[in-house]
Amino acid sequence: MNSVVELFNDENKKFVKVCAPMVRYSKLQFRKLIRLYDCDLCFTPMIMADSYVRSAQARAHEFQSDTDDRPLIVQFGANNSSDFINASNLIIPYCDGIDLNCGCPQRWALNDGYGAQLLKNPEIIKDCVRQFRNRFPSNKTISVKLRLLVDNRKSVDLCQQIEATGISFITVHGRTAIQKNQPIDQECIKLINESVGVPVILNGDVKNLSDAISMHEYTGCKGIMSARGILHNPGLFAGHKITPISAVINWLNIYHTNFLWFHHHLVFMCDRLLSKNAKNTFNQLRTASDVISFLESQFHIPNVLSSNRKLGKELSGISGTYYQNVVKQKNVSSQSEDFMESSFNLFE
Ligand SMILES: Cc1cc2nc3c(=O)[nH]c(=O)nc-3n(C[C@H](O)[C@H](O)[C@H](O)COP(=O)(O)O)c2cc1C
Repeated sequence: MNSVVELFNDENKKFVKVCAPMVRYSKLQFRKLIRLYDCDLCFTPMIMADSYVRSAQARAHEFQSDTDDRPLIVQFGANNSSDFINASNLIIPYCDGIDLNCGCPQRWALNDGYGAQLLKNPEIIKDCVRQFRNRFPSNKTISVKLRLLVDNRKSVDLCQQIEATGISFITVHGRTAIQKNQPIDQECIKLINESVGVPVILNGDVKNLSDAISMHEYTGCKGIMSARGILHNPGLFAGHKITPISAVINWLNIYHTNFLWFHHHLVFMCDRLLSKNAKNTFNQLRTASDVISFLESQFHIPNVLSSNRKLGKELSGISGTYYQNVVKQKNVSSQSEDFMESSFNLFE
């Protein structure tokens, strides 16, 4: 079965709803949550292919998944095809496809030939795609996520060149590598979509379901991807205008191993649910018990949270206080902690 290609071909779906790769945030726990709210396809955070190949510690820390965590695309950062293929080889049994990051605009990435720098070296991108397609079965997708070039015709030309090498789909973040908060260029994404035969996923500025629908209708893109929008409202693709309280409760019922991420996500999710004063207090909390007590009182949901707290237990660890919740992960492929610590804020 080719689940990702089938997803794009599913005539019952207007478009495929996609969660973006987000360093630190699009991890297993968050993917579990958003799959409960109509998200069809998830990307892992970018994983550096060379470290993944060379270091058992990196492998242990950077990728965590389970049998329910599908369909799943693993995104690698790579500046050469051999790291890309070797890393893909190790992880391919646990995912549905591999994506090459061609959009990271950070200085370190550009200096070392990663991310958006690859747009200037399309031969490396094409080499990665060709080699992947020659080696792995056709039910595993190969894709790239890229930013626009300054000249729209060059963006179209690049996508056509990549398509010719056998790519499965292309994600286009509608900004150039130097643009930060400008509105995305939907016109160029539309042009790319009309110029290639493979599915295109639009990315950028999708803050609610209406944005997703109108961008899909305007550009014709078969996929719509959200990053910051879904981080702030995990119920976005299910049509919720702000985070539904059920998502907060569901988050507390997912097994967490790292207090900082557990808390950070709640800070994002509750941004529009709490008053300014309440946010100030909530953001300072440092233990899972305090977080839970706070949410119990704010959202008047004592029974659910109290029973979880009785069943859960707090653990002390190097990254702070951990909360072991009631729902345990099944068939975890490998353990993930904070290997990407150094890349935090890379994309913000
Ligand atoms: C916290 C954070 C982490 C990100 N990490 C990645 C990443 O690992 N790989 C990637 O291709 N893009 C990454 N991005 C960029 C997003 O995937 C997306 O392209 C960008 O935020 C624009 O989409 P948005 O307007 O929906 O936020 C990240 C963005 C954020 C905010």
